[in-house]
Amino acid sequence: MKFFIDTANLDDIAEAQALGVLDGVTTNPSLMAKEGITGEENIKNHYIKICDIVEGDVSAEVISTNFEGMVKEGEALAALHPQIVVKLPLIADGIKACKYFSDKGIRTNVTLVFSAGQALLAAKAGATYVSPFLGRLDDISTDGLNLIAEIRQIYDNYGFDTQILAASIRHTMHVIDCAKIGSDVMTGPLSSITGLLKHPLTDIGLAKFLEDYKKGNS
Ligand code: G3P
Repeated sequence: MKFFIDTANLDDIAEAQALGVLDGVTTNPSLMAKEGITGEENIKNHYIKICDIVEGDVSAEVISTNFEGMVKEGEALAALHPQIVVKLPLIADGIKACKYFSDKGIRTNVTLVFSAGQALLAAKAGATYVSPFLGRLDDISTDGLNLIAEIRQIYDNYGFDTQILAASIRHTMHVIDCAKIGSDVMTGPLSSITGLLKHPLTDIGLAKFLEDYKKGNS
């Protein structure tokens, strides 16, 4: 399973990259705003900075909600850097734009997916990635992981190439459960990646090894 980090924070991206396990980055307008990145040019420059840190795909989201606007914006974003993937919302014009970009060989990430039917549409439109938001479903007492499993089954039934990018990951158990289901990618905050390192028996075991080494070499 590929690990993407879901942030526009350059320090967090650099930390995950330094760990050696990062495969890409996802962002959205809310994450950009959280870092205080506003205005078209600043946002574009920020995408380039992110691409300079990581080696994998970097999702850049369009703001337009009509086909023409999405195409114009998406083409400009894709031209910024070869690592950019155009992120489109799952609405009718987003699906049309996904098909347009897919026919042109431009990679896409269809976002704001909350049902298996929406994921099926994105795959038929040739999406590179589909982003089901599992945390936001969990937030409203709906089983987000079940949606990932449904999409996995549907894509496997028909051999769709679209990669399932489990998004709105909130914690390490989401990561582990997505890996069990067979999600192609997960995207979450830095804590969902670094949290996987933690086990008290590792810390206790390491402390004991070091203590015994000191005893044997003193
Ligand atoms: O990738 C989607 C993500 O940014 C949404 O996450 O935590 O705001 O639901 P969250």
